[in-house]
Amino acid sequence: DGEPTFSIIMVGASGDLAKKKIFPALFALYCEHCLPKNFTIFGYARSKMTDAELRTMVSRTLTCRIDKRENCNEKIEKFLKRCFYHSGQYDSEENFAELDKTLKEHEGGRVSNRLFYLSIPPNIFINVVKSASRSASSKNGWTRVIVEKPFGRDSESSAALTSGLKQYLDEDQIFRIDHYLGKELVENLSVLRFSNLIFEPLWSRKYIRNVQLIFSEDFGTEGRGGYFDHYGIIRDIMQNHLLQILALFAMETPASLDAEDIRNEKVKVLRSMRPLQLENVVIGQYKGHAKGGVTHLGYTDDKTVPEGSLTPTFAAAALFIDNARWDGVPFLMKAGKALHTKRAEIRVQFRHVPGNLYKQNFGTDREQATNELVIRVQPDEAIYLKINNKVPGLGMRLDRSNLNLLYSSRYSKEIPDAYERLLLDAIGGERRLFIRSDELDAAWNLFTPLLKELEEKKISPELYPYGSRGPVGAHYLASKYNVRWGDLSASDID
Ligand code: BG6
Repeated sequence: DGEPTFSIIMVGASGDLAKKKIFPALFALYCEHCLPKNFTIFGYARSKMTDAELRTMVSRTLTCRIDKRENCNEKIEKFLKRCFYHSGQYDSEENFAELDKTLKEHEGGRVSNRLFYLSIPPNIFINVVKSASRSASSKNGWTRVIVEKPFGRDSESSAALTSGLKQYLDEDQIFRIDHYLGKELVENLSVLRFSNLIFEPLWSRKYIRNVQLIFSEDFGTEGRGGYFDHYGIIRDIMQNHLLQILALFAMETPASLDAEDIRNEKVKVLRSMRPLQLENVVIGQYKGHAKGGVTHLGYTDDKTVPEGSLTPTFAAAALFIDNARWDGVPFLMKAGKALHTKRAEIRVQFRHVPGNLYKQNFGTDREQATNELVIRVQPDEAIYLKINNKVPGLGMRLDRSNLNLLYSSRYSKEIPDAYERLLLDAIGGERRLFIRSDELDAAWNLFTPLLKELEEKKISPELYPYGSRGPVGAHYLASKYNVRWGDLSASDID
């Protein structure tokens, strides 16, 4: 048939990300009939492996989300038949030319589109891109490259990486992933705000007291300590995932839903941010803790972590956007590993009702009288709004209740993994959910001076026990701005 062919080349096919996320996402897309008809998947890596061995490796990663009982094995078999392996060095134009030859055999002279997924350490990005673009670009269709963070460690190294990539690729060939942008509730943020009359008019300093962006994991860096120690939680989570959510949350209405319009608005927010002051940041590191008969090791007990490391595994920060809409509104971020719970959410705390008639009916806690909108990104995806309500009965007592949209009760369909959405968009050339280079620069410009100061001054992180709620410093930081962390508040019923 004359339809174009589509090849995805997984560079670093046996890496963790490929196995945990990319192959399963491709399979899910295949099951949903979302992959182009003539698709082929190529694994590319240094180690020798046969197609059969790759298929066995891939098959171990696949789970059947859609079709639990029937057809699953049949689908897996069909999918695996489209998977091939090519071994080669990452910096060898010759090896990529051999890959090109194999790709061409599959393409059979048809229009060929090629997507390279770099699931490799960033220090070899440029070598791969150089060899692949010179020897294995499509001659008659498109060639795109997906890259994952870390995009450098600071402004300078990120700029060097960007200019390195741009020697061989145009900006519109580069798809920088921040997988939080592929999460269902993050995507829904704009829908919630821009398609409901009741939210957009409230979305400013006039009605919003503060915004909280919270990420927590209930496990440490086990096994990833070596990687993590070089980056720390600020680079791992805040500079990208949380800051991207902040930009989407705070942006002005884009002219349209086009990628460039949305990214223009996001970058404006990032450029309007006030430089981050050390006194507006708290860092922490988890220490060993025994709980319920189980002993959890501390961060520095990990053999892959250098002794005496000061790398933060927790950070909280108060950020400000110096523009007309958000002047003076604290955006509080908190991210941590080895905390008591696994959760990612956005909390919007609204102002007090002026001259509230019902103030006395609440008892002593004035805090309770304000509304809070919570967008729980994961787990148990939900959107809920805390409102004041009369407790039914003859008296006049108010309490706080939730208007609650719990996804699992409302929608029967399972939520796709972020990587499914992002792969689908990259295949379709939709750039809305990918990071443009100027956004990346602005994000680094915000965090680089702080990161340097923390490192130069050798600021010690506040230790917190594994599985706890994190360092108390985070509470002091919030209370400096008259804020209470919503996730730790006693009234957080959901
Ligand atoms: C990654 C970080 O970007 O995101 C990890 O490097 C973190 O440290 C992960 O665990 C969290 O992603 P998710 O989708 O599991 O919340």
